[in-house]
Amino acid sequence: MRIILLGAPGAGKGTQAQFLMDKYGIPQISTGDMLRAAIKEGTPLGLEAKKVMDAGQLVSDEIIIGLVKERVAKADCENGFLLDGFPRTIPQADAMKENGITVDHCIEFDVADEIIVERMGGRRVHPGSGRVYHVVYNPPKTEGKDDVTGEDLIIRDDDVEETVRKRLAIYHEQTKPLVDYYRAEADAGNTQYHKLDGTQAVEAVSAQLAELLG
Ligand code: AP5
Repeated sequence: MRIILLGAPGAGKGTQAQFLMDKYGIPQISTGDMLRAAIKEGTPLGLEAKKVMDAGQLVSDEIIIGLVKERVAKADCENGFLLDGFPRTIPQADAMKENGITVDHCIEFDVADEIIVERMGGRRVHPGSGRVYHVVYNPPKTEGKDDVTGEDLIIRDDDVEETVRKRLAIYHEQTKPLVDYYRAEADAGNTQYHKLDGTQAVEAVSAQLAELLG
């Protein structure tokens, strides 16, 4: 099963990726997590990406396409994968096609901008695993600690409101056109397109996903 999770920053892609990974046993490929790992390791790519990410901009298509091509070729992707945060531009989607990377489902998470701004203010993440929480809507069992490792949760540098608003503007300008792109792919019989109401509670969104994916 090959799935694209498409939606604005904070729409709930990472949260539902955790559910889908557990349910279907396929790996999550989060380009954001890959970039944050490179930043943590202090690699040249990480140093370059940090400036761009902190400014709420997109990392270059060339770098991202290279990362994803390498990742989907790994053995754990043989039975499928979840693309979380990729593709994010038309050139990235085109590059997937050119490289013969097909997808079975494209799932759009529909959430209004103002709800997203409010959600991001309460997001907490476990940097080691990418697990995501919310202080109100999806709290960890122990405040400030990851459920699995007990390690500290952090607030992402790009979750300040000003940067979130910039990321949303970029989403509307560069990523939203992928909605029409993948609807056209579905019309051509190349994938299935689903639009989810991402404003429902976390468990309700998971239940919708389970129903439509079977
Ligand atoms: P990335 O890490 O991909 O961030 P993003 O797409 O902006 O998405 P987020 O991780 O912010 O949100 P999400 O949809 O996963 O929401 P979440 O589940 O956490 O990218 C970061 C940066 O890296 C980019 O800005 C860019 O610079 C760069 N980058 C990455 N990929 C790139 C690419 N392909 N090309 C170029 N540059 C790239 O949920 C958010 C919060 O809401 C959480 O607190 C969660 O608990 C809560 N929540 C989730 N669902 C619900 C619900 N149903 N109800 C209430 N609360 C909920």
